[in-house]
Amino acid sequence: MSITMKHARLIVLALCASFAAAAAANAAAGKAKKVQHHHWHFAGPFGTFDQYALQRGFQVYEALCSNCHGVELLSFRNLGQKGGPFYLDQCPAGVPESVDCSNPNENPVVKAIAANYRFQVTDGPDEFGEMFQRPALPSDRIPGPFANEQIARLANNNALPPDLSLITKARHHGPDYLYSLLVGYEDAPSTVEVAPGLYYNPYFPGDMSQNLKPEYVDEKGYAQEGVEVPLGGVLAMAPPLADGMIEYADGSPQTVEQYAADVTEFLMWAAEPKMEARKSLGFVTIIYLVILAGLLYWSYRKIWSDAH
Ligand code: HEC
Repeated sequence: MSITMKHARLIVLALCASFAAAAAANAAAGKAKKVQHHHWHFAGPFGTFDQYALQRGFQVYEALCSNCHGVELLSFRNLGQKGGPFYLDQCPAGVPESVDCSNPNENPVVKAIAANYRFQVTDGPDEFGEMFQRPALPSDRIPGPFANEQIARLANNNALPPDLSLITKARHHGPDYLYSLLVGYEDAPSTVEVAPGLYYNPYFPGDMSQNLKPEYVDEKGYAQEGVEVPLGGVLAMAPPLADGMIEYADGSPQTVEQYAADVTEFLMWAAEPKMEARKSLGFVTIIYLVILAGLLYWSYRKIWSDAH
C-alpha cells in the first residue's frame, strides 16, 4: 500500500496532536528549575578527582548525610584504593616498614576510619546464637544508619532516604542536580502551602500546582488565570547543610556551596571509582588507533603504488 499525500498529512497531524498532548501533560506535571552548572574537576575527557575534595566530601557525608543515607555499595577499603579519598602511595612517617600502605587493607588512615566509624557493624551469630556489634574493619561495607526500610521511613516522615552510592548516576545531570538540590532550598513562595515535615526546593522534580493555596485555584482545581505555579517540588529532606556546620582542617571555605561541591565530588567518585582509569585507557586507545590508522594508510599507499 502506498502512502498518499492525504495519509501523510494525517500522520503529521496525529504526530503533532500527540506531541501537544505530551507537552500539556508535562506542563501539568510541573517543572523543576534548570540545574546550576558547576565547574567540576572530574568533567571532560581528562577530568580527574581532587583527592582533597574527596576527603572533605567524605567528611561531609559522614558528619551529616550518614544520619539518614547509606552508601551500601562502598566498603571502607574502597576509600584507600588508588584514586580514592585516602589512597597512600607511601606510608606516613612512623609506620613500620613491613606495612604496605598502598594496600587499602593495610592503609592506616582507612583502618582508623573503619575502627572509629560512627556506626558499628552487625556481626554474628556468636556461640550463643546472638548477633553482636563490633567496630568495622577495612573489608566491611560502610554501615548505614537504619537497620531496615521501615525504621528509615518512621524516622523520615514516611519517606525513604535513598542509598547514595549511585545517586549521581541515577539522576539526570547527576552532579549538577545534586549540587543544585543541596544549595537550592528556598522559602516556599507565598502562593503555596507546604505540609509540616516537607520542604520546598525549586530543583526537586514535583508538581507545585497541588500545593497552591485555595484562593489561587479555580473550581476545577487548576491554577487561576495569572497565577504562576512555582517551579520545583516538596521533599521530606530538610535542608541538610548550613554555613560553618563542619570544620575543615585544610582551610577550605566552610560554606554550603563548598560542602555541597565536596560531597557531590565524593558521591561522584563513589558511583564511579574507576573513572580515572577508564579515561586514561580511553586516551591510550585513541592514540593507538590514530597510529594504527596512519600505519594502515601508509601501507595501503605502499602496496598499491605500482598498480596503475
Ligand atoms: C535528616 C535526614 C536526612 C539528612 C541528614 C540528609 N538527607 Fe537526603 N534525604 C532524606 C530523605 C527523607 C529523602 C527522601 C525525600 C523524599 O523523597 O521526599 C532524601 C533524599 C535525598 C536525595 C534524593 C533526591 C531525589 O532527587 O530524589 C539526595 C540526592 C539526598 N537526599 C542527598 C543528601 C545529601 C548529600 C545529604 C548530606 C549533605 C543528605 N541528603 C542529608 C533525608 C536526609
